Amino acid sequence: MADQIAGIRLAAVIGAGTMGNGIAHVLAAAGLETQLIDAEAGALERAASTIEKNLGRQVARERISAEQASATLSRIRPTTSLDGISDCDLVVEAVPEVRDIKHALFEELAGHADPAAVLATNTSSISITELAAAVDGPDRFIGMHFMNPVPVMKLVEVIRGLETSDETLTLVMDLCSAIGKVPVEVADYPGFVSNRILMPMINEAVFCLMEGVAQPEAIDSVMTLGMNHPMGPLALADLIGLDTCLSIMRVLHRDLGDDKYRPCPLLAKYVAAGRLGRKSGRGFYEYESGGGS
Ligand code: CAA
Repeated sequence: MADQIAGIRLAAVIGAGTMGNGIAHVLAAAGLETQLIDAEAGALERAASTIEKNLGRQVARERISAEQASATLSRIRPTTSLDGISDCDLVVEAVPEVRDIKHALFEELAGHADPAAVLATNTSSISITELAAAVDGPDRFIGMHFMNPVPVMKLVEVIRGLETSDETLTLVMDLCSAIGKVPVEVADYPGFVSNRILMPMINEAVFCLMEGVAQPEAIDSVMTLGMNHPMGPLALADLIGLDTCLSIMRVLHRDLGDDKYRPCPLLAKYVAAGRLGRKSGRGFYEYESGGGS
């Protein structure tokens, strides 16, 4: 019999990219049967091997046993179909950070999801209230913003939309605690708290590079050695994905209407060139292989 956590029996994560595979990992590790859904079979294969690699690292460091790792893997069911979603009590969306893609997905979900299920989005900047308007029950809609790398980072920023009910908020706060995360509730404003503060710092680091203030290694060293950040802003941008950073800056710029949030042209240029960071093998730095894990 599957475990039930905070009233959730079966969860689904839609989107098997960097964030989606991490979210499936932590839900399954806590004992939840989890469907991992992606339209592309190749993305599911890459996700499964990333999760296996990350579990293997936890086993090697004696954080979990080999049995726990294989039980976690066995609770994740990769699929390209939305058909099984009607059985899920919680659906977490983690598709790319593009408004139209997220809207289209939530419209499609209407025909598949249980009308009582909680619908959560891992969006890092798009309005929860606006996405909730695309579904039938906006009271069951909420933001669950995990941080990268999901298995490591404690925070889940929980964002309440205008119509999110108290019950939905309580359920998601309880679930986050039960899976070993620390939920922090914030209101629905562009970029929430995390990216309202983090992205302008990353963007400013790219301006420093563009203006020749310093080379990438020097910019990052100033922030790691001078401010004790675990990673410099450019290395962190490579981890997050430069396309995601650019999308978030565009949301901040447009929705807050202030030019202090204008995306650095060099960031836009790298994205146009396909230099997306770790996942493409090259961003501000070069990586041996793509994959973004
Ligand atoms: N997946 C899973 N686990 C990983 C991992 C990954 N990709 N990378 C590292 N880890 C684990 C390691 O196994 C290790 O675990 P234990 O402590 O249990 O042994 C731990 O993380 C530390 O790893 P390392 O010693 O190898 O490396 P490190 O000390 O350099 O830490 C790091 C790596 C955790 C990524 C650290 O550099 C860090 O915290 N960086 C900042 C990350 C950050 O700011 N994330 C937020 C990004 S913003 C975001 O996600 C929101 C958004 O909307 C954009």
